[in-house]
Amino acid sequence: MSNKTAKYRSDYRAPAFSIERVNLTIELDDVATLVRSKMRLSRRTSGALTLDGEQLKLVSVQLNGETLDADAYTVTDKSLTIDKVPDQFELEIVTELDPSANSALEGLYKSGGAFCTQCEAEGFRRITYYLDRPDVLAVFTTTVIAERERFPYLLSNGNLESTGELEQGRHYATWHDPHPKPAYLFALVAGDFDRLEDHYVTTEGRNVRLELFVDKGNLARGHYAMASLKRAMQWDEERFGLAYDLDRYMVVAVDFFNMGAMENKGLNIFNSKYVLAEPASATDWDYVHVESVIGHEYFHNWTGNRITCRDWFQLSLKEGLTVFRDQEFSSDLGSRAVHRIDAIRVMRSFQFNEDAGPMAHPIRPDKVIEMNNFYTVTVYNKGAEVIRMLHTLLGEHKFQLGMQLYRKRHDGQAVTCEDFIAAMEDANQFDLSLFRRWYSQAGTPEVAISQSYDAATGELHIKLHQQTPATPEQSTKQPVVVPLLFSAYNQAGERVQLKGASQVQQHESGSQLVVLDSETLQLTFNDVEQEPVIAWLENFSAPVKLQTQLTTQDLELLLGHAEQEVTRWEAAQQIYLAALRESVAQQQPAVLSASQIDALRAVLEAPLDNGLKALIFALPSAEELLEYYPQQAPLAAIEQAVDSLAQAVAKALASEFNRCFEALEARADDLSNKAMADRALRQKCLYFLALAKPHQFNEVVEQQALIQGNMTLQQGALEIAVQHQLPCQARVLAEFEAQWQDTPLVMDKWFAAQANARHPDTVDKVAKLLEHSKFSLRNPNRVYALLASFSRNSLRFHQADGAGYRLLLGIIKQLNTLNPQVASRLITPFMQWRRFDTSRQEMLQDCLLQLQQVENLAPDLEEKIASALASDDT
Ligand code: TRP
Ligand code: ZN
Repeated sequence: MSNKTAKYRSDYRAPAFSIERVNLTIELDDVATLVRSKMRLSRRTSGALTLDGEQLKLVSVQLNGETLDADAYTVTDKSLTIDKVPDQFELEIVTELDPSANSALEGLYKSGGAFCTQCEAEGFRRITYYLDRPDVLAVFTTTVIAERERFPYLLSNGNLESTGELEQGRHYATWHDPHPKPAYLFALVAGDFDRLEDHYVTTEGRNVRLELFVDKGNLARGHYAMASLKRAMQWDEERFGLAYDLDRYMVVAVDFFNMGAMENKGLNIFNSKYVLAEPASATDWDYVHVESVIGHEYFHNWTGNRITCRDWFQLSLKEGLTVFRDQEFSSDLGSRAVHRIDAIRVMRSFQFNEDAGPMAHPIRPDKVIEMNNFYTVTVYNKGAEVIRMLHTLLGEHKFQLGMQLYRKRHDGQAVTCEDFIAAMEDANQFDLSLFRRWYSQAGTPEVAISQSYDAATGELHIKLHQQTPATPEQSTKQPVVVPLLFSAYNQAGERVQLKGASQVQQHESGSQLVVLDSETLQLTFNDVEQEPVIAWLENFSAPVKLQTQLTTQDLELLLGHAEQEVTRWEAAQQIYLAALRESVAQQQPAVLSASQIDALRAVLEAPLDNGLKALIFALPSAEELLEYYPQQAPLAAIEQAVDSLAQAVAKALASEFNRCFEALEARADDLSNKAMADRALRQKCLYFLALAKPHQFNEVVEQQALIQGNMTLQQGALEIAVQHQLPCQARVLAEFEAQWQDTPLVMDKWFAAQANARHPDTVDKVAKLLEHSKFSLRNPNRVYALLASFSRNSLRFHQADGAGYRLLLGIIKQLNTLNPQVASRLITPFMQWRRFDTSRQEMLQDCLLQLQQVENLAPDLEEKIASALASDDT
């Protein structure tokens, strides 16, 4: 067992020392890198100096130029403590470390031939002894030394101060970052790359040099990321009034990276998956994500870097806000509705699940053992929804006034979520005292709404009720502030304004707004001519589960007439979900009524955005449906329900899908929003056509899979061939593999397609693919493509004989030593063990117990396993 102990948000203490500046000299070597750190420290409170450090070999310590004897300090596997230090002093520490042995990809490590770093959250302590906490801000000067041949580029944060030659073929570069920063934003890269250069002139007149570094031979795949970066810089100036603050902005793409990307000051390091894109090898999905991750990391420069977190419990301060900003960036540049629906789906298929599980936590957690476990959909995505609710409540103008005050007050500081809310509050004299509960309460609130109409008086009565289920360690919940956007429609499908309820206001989005901030609320509208159909929670205006009394006719009306595009999509989802749940309840195939089919047919023919149409025809997945069965999940009935619903839609609308498919051009070389939307709808049509008429469309799919030059088309066909087990499947897989075997990011699509397959032999396939020469447990992208995909394929992962469980268990054991962060991300499906039948519960619980016995269990896993196994009486 590891000895990491829980930390509590309430225990925060300011640091005992501050570090004004740090000079690092890093002599890179594959197995013995030498790090010399010279720091200027000042005392803030009494006591000893304890620096964080892990997996380091301490070489020497000097205080004010004097080498300290070994008895002057204490070294543990986590820290270096010097008992007696003056109030102001220089400390010089030399450590040695082995980057080649670092498979956890935290601290300094090798990615392919290059050296790179990942310091968030607590990785800097694996480079040198330091006050590794976000509220210690220092000015960094970094000298990087390495062989010139193998490492022509030596990069770090800030501005390049000097370069030069050294003996034995080595060279150096010294970088200076004038902005004081916490150690988690430190970065270093050394390697041989192809370099793309551009520039951007800010509104303030600063000419910023932009540089993108990619593996040799990949230059052509970097242009889109560079263009996205310039769009992000311009957007942040226009929408938020925020301009870049250094003369240089560098982005480096590496193949070995645990997450998406990292916002290190002036030197972002990216998973190459979110940089490299060209039509032949990247899908439209890839392009969209490159742009949003490039945006996300850039936007952190203000929300995260200039204003950072006081402690890691405040992570949502930077992540929730920055996700909100990147969502707005994508929405302003592309289809707002499509991006909003994507975000809603993430909430419903992943975040609600987390909020209902043993690791449920508020967006600002109270208790953390391993910080890496809290980079979650709750902190990021629910965090962004909380910011979005503030935006809904205040409106764009006042929200921006709050942002301006936040910046004015806190630029250059390490602050808390409370500081952010206070700025929003003070800038607008807007009381957010109840709203703060979103930061302290975990769990997904449930809102129920009922209406009754009195034709005689013309009065419409609405009753709203909210309740949040208990979560571990939070048994009682208080009401939260739920902004509910809504629109009312008359029976002709025209939007009508409801009048007479003082609690309701007109909202700038075009909808009406009521704020539910107590357990119940009653509204009375008058002069209502006929009973309206009301779309509640429009645009998913709060991260809650909603229960209404809408009938299937009401939903059809909204699907055909709602002015908000997201509301149309939502109506379709509710129609599908009702059919699916009925199917599960009756253990009969799902059916759609003739009028529901008519309503869906009308969608295909309506003048709507094709991207929206494609989403309207994305049926709820088995995983989304599972959410409705928190106990004894009826897996077989769920499988029958989703399969039969897809069949029903495919059969009923086959000729319409065919017409639509024929009319849409693939436009392989066009990357406009319009062309992407057309391809998305075309793919949906082909999906249903190949389901309804596999033999007729086998050929079409096969042909499309063999077209080269557009990965969206190629991967789309591959997915259909595999999902529907078409006769062309084997050939399509083989050709794809032959064509792309040397392009790892594309091979990931090949691995994922097979891991996502619904076919019963999927477990065996995945087990075989583990042996594939292009697969490696050391590369997180490979692991996510094959194994995270498989573990999310609930119907196959939970195969009755437990083969899926055994497979994943073996992998997690190996990753426990190789890469605990990745291991911990894979454990998610085991966390849900209480949701299944007795036999599966026993097997899943047994896996958790086996893991708990593993020698040297990583704290990441230990924390999650303990919470999963804890008795659930809250
Ligand atoms: N701050 C990074 C982001 O924007 C998150 C991140 C990147 C990260 N790499 C990491 C977090 C490694 C923990 C560990 O979103
Ligand atoms: Zn982020």
